[in-house]
Amino acid sequence: MNGKFAPKSKWNAIDWVDVFSQIPTPRALLIGPDHVFSFANDGYLEVVGRDRNQLLGKSVREIFPEFVEQGLTELLDRVYQSSEACTVAAREVNICRQGCEEIFYFDFTYFPMRNITGAVEGILCQGVDVTRAVRAKTELEAEVRERTLELEELHENLRTLNHDLMRVQDEERRRLGLELHDSAGQLLAALKWKLDPLQRELGAERPDLRKLAQDALELLGELSQELRTVSYLLHPRLLDEAGLAIALRAYVEGLKERGGLSVTLEIDPNLQRLSQGIELTIFLTVQESLTNIFRHAKTKSAKVRILYNSRFVKVQILDRGQGIPGFTSLKDPNVKLGVGILGMRERIRQLKGQLDVESGAGGTIVTAVLPIGCVNEDPVLAPKKCA
Ligand SMILES: Nc1ncnc2c1ncn2[C@@H]1O[C@H](COP(=O)(O)OP(=O)(O)OP(=O)(O)O)[C@@H](O)[C@H]1O
Ligand SMILES: [Mg+2]
Repeated sequence: MNGKFAPKSKWNAIDWVDVFSQIPTPRALLIGPDHVFSFANDGYLEVVGRDRNQLLGKSVREIFPEFVEQGLTELLDRVYQSSEACTVAAREVNICRQGCEEIFYFDFTYFPMRNITGAVEGILCQGVDVTRAVRAKTELEAEVRERTLELEELHENLRTLNHDLMRVQDEERRRLGLELHDSAGQLLAALKWKLDPLQRELGAERPDLRKLAQDALELLGELSQELRTVSYLLHPRLLDEAGLAIALRAYVEGLKERGGLSVTLEIDPNLQRLSQGIELTIFLTVQESLTNIFRHAKTKSAKVRILYNSRFVKVQILDRGQGIPGFTSLKDPNVKLGVGILGMRERIRQLKGQLDVESGAGGTIVTAVLPIGCVNEDPVLAPKKCA
């Protein structure tokens, strides 16, 4: 169609109106600066809901005044004046058909039609009605948004459930620990109180019975010790009574005495009492990390560091052991973790904190940072007065 490139005689012989009439998608030819319809194919007439007679010889502004405020006539003016084609994708177009405004979406192009001298004579409008595709896409997007919201809600519910379960479990462990220590512990103390004089009274004439009483007392001692350990593991009573620093010192001492692990504790001297939830989470994080070092790190020493300011408490558990095999980062789905680390992470996340693990051939560093301020807002977890 461009006179500069086409062999004139050959193209002039082609009936362009016939060609455009055969094309099923909308086509129209507009002539002059007022964009007067000189041709419209059936596809165009169908979309705009007009007869050919209604369009031909009339300007776009006359037939479609609604196009003015939608900026379409301005677009035509620009193409006519600049002589540059304009392509638009999935553009919303409101067309007034039989008195009713209907919304369509078109991919369309306005091509400037130049004469032999290169001057623009008119515009060829060609478009594809993509209304159904756009609507389907919009509906699909809305559906995806809705499903995503539902999923997020379910996820949040699961989180809440998990949080509640952890609380109930903590409460149950605390209750069991205290019960074992207080009730069963008291009964064992009373039993010892009764066995002691019995053993003393059994004279030399019944060494067999005296030996039995002696054995019973030794078993009783072991049972008491075992009971105290189980009760402590269920819930470190010291934590509630004396706070994190003292409970951790006692725990670390216990580890050393049992010949397990030598742990250096560095606790910020300004550390204050924190909420029950935070203190328990930190204690369990240290406990799990030290247990991991004992079980997996192939080293006999570790360090626990607790830093504190008015907004955050930061806990680090460090070892110079063999590192977690194949570890890259906590986010790496290929790294196989057990309930220990995942449980720690979940507990810390519940308190709006963050758990980070770095591990390599030089050892492992577990870091937990917990905001103090945020938890203060939770009345259940409100911090106690400083010790
Ligand atoms: N300090 C460490 N040094 C070396 N490897 C470690 C260390 N901590 C964890 N690991 C490795 O990371 C894995 C996951 O630890 P995690 O505590 O999640 O599970 P676990 O200790 O195997 O089992 P549990 O669920 O009983 O805690 C461990 O199996 C171990 O291979
Ligand atoms: Mg573990």
